[in-house]
Amino acid sequence: MFFRYLCENGGALQTGTPTGAASAHNKKNIWNMADNYLGRKMEEYLSRPDTAKHKASHTLARLLRKNRSCRGYDAGFKVREDQLRKIIGVNTSVASSRNRQALRFRPVLADEAPKVLEHVRMGGALPELHLPLPGTEPNAFIVVCTTAAPDDDLYIDIGISAQSMLLQAVEIGLNGLCIRAFDREGIKRALGLTLEPVLVMALGRSVEKAETVEIPADGNHAYYRRDGRHYVPKVRAEELIIPHACGQQH
Ligand SMILES: Cc1cc2nc3c(=O)[nH]c(=O)nc-3n(C[C@H](O)[C@H](O)[C@H](O)COP(=O)(O)O)c2cc1C
Repeated sequence: MFFRYLCENGGALQTGTPTGAASAHNKKNIWNMADNYLGRKMEEYLSRPDTAKHKASHTLARLLRKNRSCRGYDAGFKVREDQLRKIIGVNTSVASSRNRQALRFRPVLADEAPKVLEHVRMGGALPELHLPLPGTEPNAFIVVCTTAAPDDDLYIDIGISAQSMLLQAVEIGLNGLCIRAFDREGIKRALGLTLEPVLVMALGRSVEKAETVEIPADGNHAYYRRDGRHYVPKVRAEELIIPHACGQQH
């Protein structure tokens, strides 16, 4: 039986036998085999892509792909308080202009959800569908409020917060929707809020099939539904890049 021990031989880690019975010739063969084996393994390892980086980008891409705005939820699945708290918790780690951190979050569970639902509008681009379809209403929300007067920087903070919360929701198997079409006074009254609500986020387990598609030739950005699938046109990656101005050095 072999065991491994360190052998100083040009800095290489080698393998040998413990018994003095093996001949010098056998020992040399064994070491050569071990050298070959370790060498091969090292080459394999070095030729692998950077696995940590690869995995991380793959995970983010997957979360972003699944993070489609959701307007139809599984009524049988009740979002729990710990799930809302986990989603709100991402705000302890996100960027904030001047690190002001003026946002506060009101979790809304199934008992209060109908009071919020009546003050929000979903799917404005598909008015004929009257979303959410009956029986697919969200039973949880997070109402994002501010302690400071809204300005440009605060709206950027809200965007960073909202996207981070949506990605956290996707990571725990939920989906969400940012809602800005809501009746501010109605929401304040319904929840007895003293802070100003700036965004409502619906949350739940999606029953929708949704995917992104390229923007069609006519340039229409509006999302649409076909055969029960929701399609979201997105600008192609190459078109996101602003080309260098003609003659500019780069
Ligand atoms: C700031 C903001 C406000 C939004 N407000 C609403 C809204 O009031 N009602 C709604 O149904 N969707 C709303 N949406 C969702 C957008 O319609 C959705 O992000 C867009 O159609 C792209 O789809 P996607 O999120 O699946 O990529 C809002 C999104 C953002 C970022």
